[in-house]
Amino acid sequence: MSNVYDNILGLIGNTPMVKLNAVTREIPAKVYAKLESCNPGHSTKDRIALHIIEKAEEKGILTPDSVIVETTSGNTGFSVAMVSIVKGYKCILAVSDKTKAEKIAYLKALGAQVYVCPANVPADDPRSYYEVAKRIAAETPNSVYINQYFNELNIDAHYQTTGPEIWEQTEGKVTHLFACTGTGGTLSGSAKYLKEKNPNIKIIGVDADGSILKGYHETGKINPLDIKPYQIEGMGKNLLPSALLFDQIDQFVKVNDEMSAYRTREIALKEAIMGGYTCGAVTQGLIQYAAANNFGPDDLVVLIFPDHGSRYITKVYSDEWMAQQGFVNNCVHNYDEVFKTEYIK
Ligand SMILES: Cc1ncc(COP(=O)(O)O)c(C=O)c1O
Repeated sequence: MSNVYDNILGLIGNTPMVKLNAVTREIPAKVYAKLESCNPGHSTKDRIALHIIEKAEEKGILTPDSVIVETTSGNTGFSVAMVSIVKGYKCILAVSDKTKAEKIAYLKALGAQVYVCPANVPADDPRSYYEVAKRIAAETPNSVYINQYFNELNIDAHYQTTGPEIWEQTEGKVTHLFACTGTGGTLSGSAKYLKEKNPNIKIIGVDADGSILKGYHETGKINPLDIKPYQIEGMGKNLLPSALLFDQIDQFVKVNDEMSAYRTREIALKEAIMGGYTCGAVTQGLIQYAAANNFGPDDLVVLIFPDHGSRYITKVYSDEWMAQQGFVNNCVHNYDEVFKTEYIK
């Protein structure tokens, strides 16, 4: 039998790459998107959930009714819930009360027990979702706290899988890797592997306007003035995750909510790839980088597309939401004019 699996976890990893033919046509390099939405939990976070849980199993930490704890309502929550079902563990997610009801329903549909904690308390308040998760993990014997921002196995998951896949899929011809950085695990682990294979590969992190990561990379200091609210979920941070290996990254590019949103919708309309908001952000990062750096026909660029657009139907794919943000070009279906005037100089 071929292409047949013992359970859903067999589908994690080995995601395909697809050439971008329209959106990046001004760039004289070959550009491929690695579609992490093809993981069974529809995001790159399946890789770290599986890896962290299997490493705990190898260490003998987990027993049949063990508990897996995490603090996210995002992609990692879905992935941890999925892996927990198949492996027979209980999954507890502590989320903030800002989390949309539909997301909580999704997590519960995957069997997770969800604790909703107040968002407007400091991180060290006993009611915060960080503290609740820590307490559950500390009080529950044989539990595992995924703690993706500060877990080196997050990096290792991508060192073991994403990096080698990119190397093999491009037959070692990759010259540039771009990824949005949240925990930093995807880019750091992939970069570590790829730089061991070829230290000349350029590794570019894409950061959010409102995050400290780019500034820290350039100065070694956190600039509080960099911190401001932004809409893109999953990328950027106001603290330094230990899963982000700054020394593996050659350069950061900062992108804003508005251009990333247009770009996400442009990718759907022109490439028929329905990606999440950070797929637009990483593509926007490449286009900004290309405005200042030369590419040639021998360059082969890989962009990580972390998740699927179905999770953003009421956000970046909603004309109403776009209008509420003041993103005035939201109804323009021929984006060429917008991009020419806005930022392709
Ligand atoms: C949608 C999305 N894009 C990008 C990222 C960034 O990936 P990483 O945390 O590996 O840096 C995340 C991570 O949370 C994410 O959920």
